[in-house]
Amino acid sequence: MTQTPQKVALITGAARGIGLATAQLMIEDGWRVALLDRDKDELSSAAAPLGDAALCLPHDVSNPQAAPLAIRTCLDHFGRLDALVNNAGVADFGPIEDTDFARWRRVMETNLDGVFLMSQAATPALRETSGAIVNIGSISGLRASTLRVAYGTSKAAVIHLTKQQAAELGEYGIRANCVCPGPVRTKLAMAVHTQDIIDAYHDAIPLNRYGSEREIAEVIAFLCSTKASYVTGQIIAADGGFESTGVGLPSLRRPD
Ligand SMILES: NC(=O)c1ccc[n+]([C@@H]2O[C@H](COP(=O)([O-])OP(=O)(O)OC[C@H]3O[C@@H](n4cnc5c(N)ncnc54)[C@H](O)[C@@H]3O)[C@@H](O)[C@H]2O)c1
Repeated sequence: MTQTPQKVALITGAARGIGLATAQLMIEDGWRVALLDRDKDELSSAAAPLGDAALCLPHDVSNPQAAPLAIRTCLDHFGRLDALVNNAGVADFGPIEDTDFARWRRVMETNLDGVFLMSQAATPALRETSGAIVNIGSISGLRASTLRVAYGTSKAAVIHLTKQQAAELGEYGIRANCVCPGPVRTKLAMAVHTQDIIDAYHDAIPLNRYGSEREIAEVIAFLCSTKASYVTGQIIAADGGFESTGVGLPSLRRPD
């Protein structure tokens, strides 16, 4: 009897947070995972407990030379690529007047350019396996808010890029979907979430809490898997209901 080959995912921004939780979950599910991150030290300590199922790729997704090199190293090591998770992201919140071009580019080069470059480099390998791309957007890309001119715009662009990818790459059997997380207490979020923002999120989220890395990872892993074999071009918010609501939740919770 021939054995089904173990599937391989490449996850960017996998040294910590949502990316690392996704790598851990997919390895538990039987995948082998290439973990890519520009923070070399954090990457090697995160990957060490994952053993032979993990490969470290110390690269920066915003560097146009890095993407082809990362894909080649992954293919040389594992022999195939079934899923690309474009998760690496940076957050930098500030008013429009204070967002100079360098600050704008710092956000765009990782959050948007990185997704474009990695996906383009991975396409030939994903074509071989009828693989999947999962891009990580944000609720900040679905709804505008204060201080997010660069971050929110980069994530809105990722949402549209996902639809472009689904439209063009469906021809090759490649699926492309986007997960938009609500707030999760990672290093990225805690650097920009003031107490005001934390309180406002609790007020605006029907489930009345932050999500966990694992809750976001479950949605990503599903979209990478063949359980989602007829799902492409979709934008899925894993956000405790934030996107679906409007005003009024606090008054519901705090009757006088
Ligand atoms: N945490 C949240 O509340 C939240 C909400 C919505 C969306 N997101 C998105 O989820 C994704 C993961 O975020 P997280 O909260 O786990 O953040 P995190 O800061 O914990 O992890 C992000 C990882 O990406 C890496 N990284 C950043 N820029 C990189 C680059 N140019 N090249 C390679 N690696 C790079 C970092 O070194 C880090 O390890 C991001 O795209 C973020 O925008 C997070």
